Amino acid sequence: MFSFGLGVHRGYRNNGYASEATRIIMRYGFYELRMQKCNSSCVEINEASLKFHKNLGFIEEGRRRRIIYMDGKFYDNILLGITREEFDEIESEYSKIKHQ
Ligand SMILES: CC(C)(COP(=O)(O)OP(=O)(O)OC[C@H]1O[C@@H](n2cnc3c(N)ncnc32)[C@H](O)[C@@H]1OP(=O)(O)O)[C@@H](O)C(=O)NCCC(=O)NCCS
Repeated sequence: MFSFGLGVHRGYRNNGYASEATRIIMRYGFYELRMQKCNSSCVEINEASLKFHKNLGFIEEGRRRRIIYMDGKFYDNILLGITREEFDEIESEYSKIKHQ
């Protein structure tokens, strides 16, 4: 299993940089290190991060309830994951589109 964390400077968001960087990390994890699973997570109100993970093919696997405290409130942490087989499928579609 492997994981990652990232942040993109505010002025550079929504350009696909996080998605492209994470694809590189996932190729390294799955194809170079031969890992079978990538796990990640994000706080339930982080809509940009949720969208970014789902765009990459991450599947919501569960939630840890009320474990993140921010600005006087508790929030759930959403657990996300993608398997090697799921990534293989997405990669083959992605490379078809990229080389059209
Ligand atoms: C999450 C983060 C890394 C994404 O970086 P990015 O370079 O903007 O990501 P991408 O451009 O590859 O993809 C972002 C996607 O989120 C969507 N998005 C952005 N803001 C959104 C919002 N408020 N609500 C819903 N979707 C949103 C974008 O439209 C895009 O999806 P699309 O390609 O289908 O249009 C960036 O927002 C960030 O650094 N946030 C602060 C740190 C953080 O939250 N890190 C992750 C912790 S789990």
